[in-house]
Amino acid sequence: MRFDKVIAGGTVVTPGGTFVGDVGIIGEKIAALGTELDDEGADFIPATGHLVLPGVLDVHVHLELPFCGTVSADDYRTGTRAGARGGVTTVIDFAIPSAGGTLAQAADTWMRKAEGKSLIDYTFHICITRWQEQKDQIADMVARGFTTFKEFMIYESEGWQSDDRALFGTLEQMREHGAMLLVHAESARVLDELIARHHTPEEMQRWGAQLHRITRPNFIEAEAIERAVRWCEVTGGQLYIVHMSTAEGTDIVRAAQARGVPVLAETCVQYLVLDDSVFERPDGHLFACCPQLKGRNDIDRLWEGLRRGEVSVVSTDTCTFTREQKAMWNGDWTKIPMGMPGLETLLPLTYTQGVLGGRLSLEEMVRKLSTNPARIMGLAPRKGAIQVGADADVAIIHPTSTRRVDPAEMETNADWSPYEGMELAGFARTTLSRGEVIVDDYRVVGREGRGQWLPRTSAGLAPRSDAAPVAAPRDASPSPFRDHRVEIHLG
Ligand code: URP
Ligand code: ZN
Ligand code: ZN
Ligand code: ZN
Repeated sequence: MRFDKVIAGGTVVTPGGTFVGDVGIIGEKIAALGTELDDEGADFIPATGHLVLPGVLDVHVHLELPFCGTVSADDYRTGTRAGARGGVTTVIDFAIPSAGGTLAQAADTWMRKAEGKSLIDYTFHICITRWQEQKDQIADMVARGFTTFKEFMIYESEGWQSDDRALFGTLEQMREHGAMLLVHAESARVLDELIARHHTPEEMQRWGAQLHRITRPNFIEAEAIERAVRWCEVTGGQLYIVHMSTAEGTDIVRAAQARGVPVLAETCVQYLVLDDSVFERPDGHLFACCPQLKGRNDIDRLWEGLRRGEVSVVSTDTCTFTREQKAMWNGDWTKIPMGMPGLETLLPLTYTQGVLGGRLSLEEMVRKLSTNPARIMGLAPRKGAIQVGADADVAIIHPTSTRRVDPAEMETNADWSPYEGMELAGFARTTLSRGEVIVDDYRVVGREGRGQWLPRTSAGLAPRSDAAPVAAPRDASPSPFRDHRVEIHLG
């Protein structure tokens, strides 16, 4: 076989096992795996002494998002360049309808943000913000290739909040269409009450940005996950908890999965490596994200959840704000633009703290960053694994050589980093996207706008059912989900 490119001599992580050898690429696809592949006439990409991993899918990002009275500072140009440098080859963003807007208009708006700018492939989760008005638009969006939807249980002031009626009804529709509902789970009414209690000049003077964590005890997330899981259980619609940050949430997901409830969970790398003591720093307000960082116990439980399979995906929730934007808080924690940069450091942090830190095997990390997100988001077998026939999306990293996180040298528009000063291995020496080298020797060389939109026909692990029974008794049919979950463990 004649190849266009051969990645030679690396330690290649595939779903079938890890081997030292070569990856042969023809056009945009992986054409062969083996040892001593014929590289005559092919571009030779040396990988001896390096790890050859599938490109990372960051399935939770917000690029150029109007939020908290400003617009997040990484757009499709800087955000995807940052991602590529961290081995990310696919992003999934959230298309959010404007006031009075339709789901289709939201998708069109996000298409325009990405087109001509994105370095890597992309698609969007479609956010449902007013279900009563938008419910009849869901089938059309599935037909257009969007199979994941999102509802927020908070953010009334943004006009994004969904109630239980919407969650319940949308989950029924997910079952009907073989689609998946992503949920931001926080308990809005109790959170409002806690914020109101602390929103006094005296408290703000005394506690500053620490009020962000004081007003969001773990039960705020746990109660909301519990409720969403209940609606998932009685409808049978596939549910995916985004940015899960608590030990309690992980326990609830574990118990639900053991009952055969089709719920999956994602955490974000910041919840695995940072704890809420950062709010005590003079610049603690920079670290405000939503949900906020939690304690050491939560960090340990989330890593354990990743190992045990209760947490399937690690993403970033990238929502970058500069120091100037963060300064809008002016002493009132409810006005901090919530979110942090993350795309550039997802793989380096997960690799350094997870694999080198002895918390995850290399293969487990690849499942959480690539294989599982691709399968769950309906992008497999095209994305997420080094296997014949898949897109040649590849990240080549050195196993031990580290770089110091310095915002001045990064692709993100952020002028700070939550990880500043950390020594991290796992930045991409080389990134390939559909067979094209877009990062070479740690520098972005790919052309902006080359990224493509990715249509999908499925999502989640629960089977599609046109019967769509409402509140079917749990024992009526054996759960197909259990078996699928075992696959995720082994996958
Ligand atoms: O702080 C965050 N995560 N900002 C983005 C919005 C969200 O809830 O994901
Ligand atoms: Zn969220
Ligand atoms: Zn988010
Ligand atoms: Zn920069």
